[in-house]
Formats: sequence, C-alpha cells, structure tokens
Amino acid sequence: MGADVKIAVIGGDGIGPEVTAEAAKVIPAVEPLIGRPVIIETLPWGADYYLQTGVTIPPDGYDTLRQFDAVLVGALGDPRVPDNRHAKDILLGTRFELDLYVNHRPIKLLDDRLCPLKGRRPQDVNLTVFRENTEGLYVGIGGRFKPGSEDEIAIQEEVNTFKGVNRIIRHAFEFARARGLSKVCMADKSNAMTSGHALWQRVFSDVAAEYPELEATHYYIDALAMYLVLDPGQFQVIVTNNLFGDIITDLGAALQGGLGMAASGNIHPGRTSLFEPVHGSAPDLAGKNVANPIGAILSAALMFEVLGFPEAAAAIEAAVLRSVTAQQVTRDVGGRLGTREAGDAIVRALRA
Ligand code: NAD
Ligand code: IPM
Ligand code: MN
Repeated sequence: MGADVKIAVIGGDGIGPEVTAEAAKVIPAVEPLIGRPVIIETLPWGADYYLQTGVTIPPDGYDTLRQFDAVLVGALGDPRVPDNRHAKDILLGTRFELDLYVNHRPIKLLDDRLCPLKGRRPQDVNLTVFRENTEGLYVGIGGRFKPGSEDEIAIQEEVNTFKGVNRIIRHAFEFARARGLSKVCMADKSNAMTSGHALWQRVFSDVAAEYPELEATHYYIDALAMYLVLDPGQFQVIVTNNLFGDIITDLGAALQGGLGMAASGNIHPGRTSLFEPVHGSAPDLAGKNVANPIGAILSAALMFEVLGFPEAAAAIEAAVLRSVTAQQVTRDVGGRLGTREAGDAIVRALRA
C-alpha cells in the first residue's frame, strides 16, 4: 500500500456542504479500487467563516491547498456577501494562484428522460468542454471611474495571451487524441473581438496542423449556443475562453438534466487540482436536503480519474448511472429522494 491520498474538502456556502458531504461519502466505498488510504480534511472557508473572522482565505491558504493531492469544493456565493469577495479569493483565487488553466467540463446525458430536448439519447449528448480558466475577462483588470454618477466609466479588460490560449487548445487536442476522438471545435467571437480572438484563430489553426488525424472545426460562440441546442450530437470536444465556457456549460448542464448533474475539474496537469460541481450555492435550496448531489459526486469521479485512479472513477460513474436508471434520485431529476438518500443510493450501488 502506497502513501495516503490527501483530499481537502471546502463545502463552502448554501448547498455546497450538503453536496460535498455526499461526495465524501462515496470515497470510502472506492478505497479498495485505489489501494491506498484516502484522507479527507475539511476546510471551513466560505461566507460564514468570512463573516465571523473577516478572513476569506488565510494568508497561507493557497500553500495549504498545495499540500493536498486534490481539492473538492461545493460552491461559494452568499447573499450576505454581495460583492462575492470570498468566492473571488477562494475559488477564482485558487484557479489563478494554483494556475489551474484547464476547466474540464463533461456534458454527458445519462438517460433519455433527463434531456429537455425531444428524442435525444445518451449518444446524442456526450461531449467535453475545455474552458480556459486563468485569463480572459476574469483577470480583474480594470476599474470604475466616477462610480454611481452619470459620468461613470467602467472598464474590464479581456486578457488573451499566447501562453494561455496555446496551452488550453493543446490540452483539448491531446484529450481528443488520447480518447481516439475525431474532432475538436473552437468557439470564439473573432468577428467582433478582432484583436483578442484573432490570437485564438491563429493558435487554433497552428495547433490543429499538428493533429492531422483530428478534424478542426470552428463556430462563433453565438452560433455554437444555437447548435448545442439543435444538434448537440455533432460535438465531441469544444475549447473556448473563460467567459464563453462558463456560459455554455450551464447550457450543457441543462442538456444533461439540469445544473445538479454537471461536474467539473479545474486542472493543472500534474499539480494539485480542484474539482467542483458546475452549479452554485443555490441559496433557495440550502438546508432543505433537496439539492442533487450527483454533480458533486461526478466531480469526485473526475478527480480520481485525473489523479490516476480510473477504476475508482469508472465505479462511481457506473453507480451514478445505476441510480439514475432506477430513478433513485432527487426531485430536480424526476425522483423522490432527498440529498442524503440520493447519496446513500449511490453508495449502495457502489457496494453492490
Ligand atoms: P445556482 O447554480 O446556484 O442555481 C441556479 C438554479 O439551479 C437554481 O434554481 C438552483 O435551485 C438550481 N440548482 C443549482 N444546483 C442545484 C442542485 N445541486 N440540485 C438541484 N438544483 C440545483 O446559480 P445562481 O442562482 O446563479 O447563483 C447562486 C450563487 O452561487 C451566487 O452567489 C453565485 O455567484 C454562486 N455560484 C457559485 C459557483 C461556484 O462556486 N462554482 C457557481 C455558480 C454560481
Ligand atoms: C463557475 C461559476 C464561477 C465562474 C463564479 C462563481 C465566479 O459560475 O464556476 O462556473 O464564473 O467561473
Ligand atoms: Mn458558472
């Protein structure tokens, strides 16, 4: 038996702690497939902690996270912190400080019943979005001049670097090649963003030339949004910038049955990475034992895959599929179970 696998869990706000509790529950059930003890440590950061202590993330917080093999997050966002400061430091801050440049978001329909589109089967909705995760409009460069007045000027810059664009596009092509897929689609808005997105065009065509076996296709992001609804089956891998990736993965979550179903990883290959459901803190559902834990549980599966434990990942995915097929799920996806009971059903499926 090798060294421990160390996982930090940040439940965060709203339904975050409820869904990460279910993800943490499935982990012991896959320990035999990992062959090493998995140690889970819970970190208290979130809105409550910030409101009580004034601290969003401690000064050594990012170094603390680097000591773990991976981080599992619930969600951050609380109406009592209207400027979202803590989420900016804990979630976006970790993406930037740990340089988690790949936002890996699978869009996978598990059962026909869950798709809001007519007549779609699981094979029609099975793609992966790679969202650039360390630059774009998220870098926070800009400011407000004369705020609150009629002369107000608000500037927020979009940053696109060769390094950032190149590494995410390359990652998408490498993923497609490793999986034996046949195409990669890049989405930008280069018809309007004629400087920043010209860089995406240039890098995409240069990188695509190195992968001659893969078909490289392109849509403007507005058209891509339309095609995701009309014909999701045409996509295998989509690569796009930070903001566009954020938006289309909520649309992608809807194609899978809703935000409660969608998983994600914020990854720097080979380094400590962060895994979280695509959904937010859903304050309307918090504390009611109604939130769907599947997005968080599938994020734990993605975490094990990235950590090099594909059998544990596959077992969790299979257990989720069995639960979904048997309708042992929460109400948002047509079941009758609470959050905890839906998590229990997945643990039972894993142990069966
Ligand atoms: P949200 O994802 O929290 O909720 C959107 C809708 O989806 C709501 O109707 C909600 O009830 C539903 N929903 C979300 N997760 C669900 C689940 N697991 N099961 C069943 N239904 C679910 O998005 P929002 O309302 O725009 O944002 C709420 C807060 O969350 C905000 O503060 C926002 O900034 C934050 N947020 C955080 C993250 C994150 O931490 N990764 C992501 C998105 C939003
Ligand atoms: C996400 C979220 C975050 C983002 C918010 C909470 C800042 O929507 O992870 O998808 O925009 O990246
Ligand atoms: Mn989002």
